[in-house]
Amino acid sequence: MIKREFKKGLYWAGAVDWDRRLFDSLIPLPDGTSYNAYIVRGTEKTAIIDAVEPAMLDKLAAHLRDVPRIDYVVAHHAEQDHSGGIPFVIGKYPEAVVLCTPQAKGMLIDHLGIGEGRVREVGDGETLALGGKTLRFVHAPWVHWPETMVTYVEEDRVLFSCDWFGSHLATSELFVSDEAAIYEPAKRYFAEIMMPFRAIIRKNLEKIKDLPIEIIAPSHGPLFNRPKFIIDAYKEWTSDTPKNEVVIPYVSMHGSTAILVDRLAAALVDKGILVHPFNLAVMDVGKLAMSLVDAATIVVGCPAVHVGPHPAALYAVALANALRPKARFASVVGSYGWGNRIVETIKGLIPNLKVELLAPVIAKGLPRVADLKAIDALAGALAEKHKSLNLI
Ligand code: FEO
Repeated sequence: MIKREFKKGLYWAGAVDWDRRLFDSLIPLPDGTSYNAYIVRGTEKTAIIDAVEPAMLDKLAAHLRDVPRIDYVVAHHAEQDHSGGIPFVIGKYPEAVVLCTPQAKGMLIDHLGIGEGRVREVGDGETLALGGKTLRFVHAPWVHWPETMVTYVEEDRVLFSCDWFGSHLATSELFVSDEAAIYEPAKRYFAEIMMPFRAIIRKNLEKIKDLPIEIIAPSHGPLFNRPKFIIDAYKEWTSDTPKNEVVIPYVSMHGSTAILVDRLAAALVDKGILVHPFNLAVMDVGKLAMSLVDAATIVVGCPAVHVGPHPAALYAVALANALRPKARFASVVGSYGWGNRIVETIKGLIPNLKVELLAPVIAKGLPRVADLKAIDALAGALAEKHKSLNLI
């Protein structure tokens, strides 16, 4: 992709990664991604905002071929998909100074081996004049690491937001044209990396609420020239109010747990609750994460392997615990053959979830009538809990 000027003196100079299918050896990328670096050319100084994933340095090098001087490298975030190209940039431009938050300075030195003398810390709200372009740095922790900041260009009303408001989407569109289509990749991205930090992100939203923003330029995915859409979406996702939804990550070995899950899903739907069952043998981690953004309840469906929970269920439970969703209720359904430490093991793995645990339903072998009745009772109890939050 060629360098693209989207406002006078502001250029997209990133790389579109059409083929990447996994991030952090964890997160599926069904639609690829992009690493958006930007060039801000003032009348006196030039800055580059973030760099690209090291594997795509040839794309950044091509963008910089006709750029004779870079004075500043704005490093919003030390994660290598944006910072990994910075050693290349400061090697090419020996006069360039790296600007970052105080927290980022040590991380850039640790992760990339950048010399301390090349890095300058910037304060929250500090401005930098490039000549007709004034950069205002806004510290925005936890979007996505603790050291993150964003940059606002005052004259152009453009917010360069790094991971914040981004989406893993490879596209040749510079700006979002179809808001309905970007909603899912943007929500998936929020769910995978920012959900645990909802309260802090709400504070960050407050910090930028009085900035007149015409364009949001994130470091992944297309830019927003109607920023209200994505800001409103973030307000919804970061709210602590859940929706009338139940997520059921489950795994079944010989069908018993699946019988319980099917019964539970049908009973919940009958009570007007939206359900999201995820068979852990085939599901996409990103879809599970997305459903956790809104759900009021999580019910894990889990058979015993020997006496403990099936490892696939352990993975899902560990993921949910790490993502700290806003769910208020939880339970476990499953089956065992000769030993059952399913529930106590799962309970011990979710210290981050602030949930009320409802009575689990664990069948010995094939579910019997009493087990199915217990599932119906669980559905009824969950419906009452949802009603108590005015969700139904
Ligand atoms: Fe896209 Fe947290 O890096």
